[in-house]
Amino acid sequence: MKIAILGGTGKEGAGLGLRWLKAGHSIIVGSRDAERARAKARELSAQARDEVSGMTNPEAARAGELVVLAFPYAGLAATLPEVKEACQGKVVVSAVVPLTFGGARLFTPPPIGSAAEEAQQILGPGARVVAAFHHIAAHELASLEHPIECDLLLCGDAAAAKQQVAELGASMGLRVLDAGPLSNAGLLEGITALLATINRRYKLKNSGIKITGL
Ligand SMILES: NC(=O)c1ccc[n+]([C@@H]2O[C@H](COP(=O)([O-])OP(=O)(O)OC[C@H]3O[C@@H](n4cnc5c(N)ncnc54)[C@H](OP(=O)(O)O)[C@@H]3O)[C@@H](O)[C@H]2O)c1
Repeated sequence: MKIAILGGTGKEGAGLGLRWLKAGHSIIVGSRDAERARAKARELSAQARDEVSGMTNPEAARAGELVVLAFPYAGLAATLPEVKEACQGKVVVSAVVPLTFGGARLFTPPPIGSAAEEAQQILGPGARVVAAFHHIAAHELASLEHPIECDLLLCGDAAAAKQQVAELGASMGLRVLDAGPLSNAGLLEGITALLATINRRYKLKNSGIKITGL
């Protein structure tokens, strides 16, 4: 599949890209700046020994069959209107977590409940948003030499869209669990705040989550 990663110049997006390249998918790095995107694409190409292209976020969203949001929550309101048209008819994966560092509360979801629901609201019903990959740390994604010790929890309102994202997760070796409708996205995003706190307490970079009892 041809996957456009918006904010793919960052740690999380680049890590997802590397894992998907390894699984045989084709990657387009999106950025606010075309030259930054091309530079990261060259870097990923060299690491994965595969061709990767880099372009602006709107161009990447147009070129991709599936679009991944991998930029900070602060960029949601400015970036999504620019890519709205390109996302119509596509699955849009949100890995965005609304975190505020240095304030009274680390997890700071928007009034609608989650970044993923806000993305769905901005993109409209023509895009099918699936919330996923929040618990897969960038550090873990980049360590290609070992499998990722974490379950992939995803949620969304369109069963076929969730199935596509589940297949993308399975292609990087993850056990995938359907965590219900998009209204559960705040719960998934909040777990990342918990993992970030655990990372800080225990001096880790890659704490994750596994569901027991299955
Ligand atoms: N890092 C992790 O382990 C991890 C794990 C789970 C989920 N996440 C979530 O995944 C997303 C990306 O995380 P990250 O660690 O990769 O973040 P990051 O490195 O800080 O940012 C990723 C990219 O987003 C773009 N960006 C930054 N500020 C932006 C803005 N205001 N508007 C639009 N684009 C902006 C930048 O690309 P350009 O400057 O090239 O446009 C940057 O390279 C976040 O929402 C984060 O909460 C991260």
